[in-house]
Amino acid sequence: MITEFVTVTSPDSPDAQRKLAHAGQILRDGGLVIFPTETVYGLGGDATNSAAAAAIYAAKGRPGDNPLIIHIAEPQDAARYTYTCALYDRLARAFMPGPLTVILRSRGCIPLTVRAGLDTVAVRCPSHPVAHALIAAAGVPIAAPSANLSGKPSPTCAAHVRDDMNGRVDMIIDGGEAQVGLESTIVKIEDDGSLLLLRPGGITVEDLRQVVDHVKIAPAVTAKLAEGEKVLSPGMKYRHYAPTAPVYLLNGSEEERFAYLEKTSGKCALLCYNDEKDTFSKLFAENDLYLIGTRQNLREQAHRLFYVLREADKAGYDAIYAPLPPREGLGLALYNRMIRAAAYQIIDLHK
Ligand code: TXA
Ligand code: MG
Repeated sequence: MITEFVTVTSPDSPDAQRKLAHAGQILRDGGLVIFPTETVYGLGGDATNSAAAAAIYAAKGRPGDNPLIIHIAEPQDAARYTYTCALYDRLARAFMPGPLTVILRSRGCIPLTVRAGLDTVAVRCPSHPVAHALIAAAGVPIAAPSANLSGKPSPTCAAHVRDDMNGRVDMIIDGGEAQVGLESTIVKIEDDGSLLLLRPGGITVEDLRQVVDHVKIAPAVTAKLAEGEKVLSPGMKYRHYAPTAPVYLLNGSEEERFAYLEKTSGKCALLCYNDEKDTFSKLFAENDLYLIGTRQNLREQAHRLFYVLREADKAGYDAIYAPLPPREGLGLALYNRMIRAAAYQIIDLHK
């Protein structure tokens, strides 16, 4: 398949509208279009078309038991496909459009392929203007997982999309760098009216608790699922966000990490905070040091993490070391992605 590349950074010009109308037609015809969102790039197909959904799974190499999020143009469109409720409306008012996905009971009109056989549907209303304009141009909800090959870190720029997906989709829309850099927060509205966090993201638990009284955190967010434990979000059970090289998370201060890394051997990469550059330059060549942002600035770290993991992966290392993120605020989303990238290999350096 020949992939068409277009650039659309803002949807308003006549040129952009022409490209988006063409992309909308591809989607209505059952084709696949990769598009920018504020979280990561999405690999989109018509969410009402079972064959398009099957093509998405094939293009990603994704297991068929891992359902897709449907992307809607307006928060109220969720009511066409799912049973919404007062809590959904409250979440929508507070956080939509934006990086929040809500799992609701299906009305049945979204095909089983999209839902991977579940009786629920995940809905998200992205805030990226190009994503919004594309959904409107398509006139159908867009089913879209992250636009990476299954298991790889999600792409946050068009160059990384191209690395994985050239020749696998009909069109790639380059809309620049994704602003958040990590996938959306996923919550499920439980039958008892409480909210369960399945995947942390740009909307933090602290943000959710400003609006909702009871927010529970699914155990799999911060820990490996126990053997036989029920999987609430199928995506959680796979090794994920992972470069080819093994990733090790170092839980310790700058000094403790330095002392540990001094004793390692082989071709290694280090992810570290910007202010640690001088310290670790004593052990690593400049090319093997990947700065993830200022220590206090979790937004910057979220924005850079997948970009850096993918760049490090291209260089081909025996091992990649990174600091263990904190679990507060946006740190919880970083922690959640990093423990999966590291296949839960945390090296505790605290004495
Ligand atoms: O930010 C995002 O959410 C990006 C952009 C493209 O919107 N999309 C994304 O999709 O991250 P994906 O497919 O990579 O991750 C979706 C996750 C998967 O872990 C999947 O198992 C879960 O959402 N999921 C989807 N539908 C679900 C459902 N009905 N019940 C439980 N989990 C669901
Ligand atoms: Mg994904």
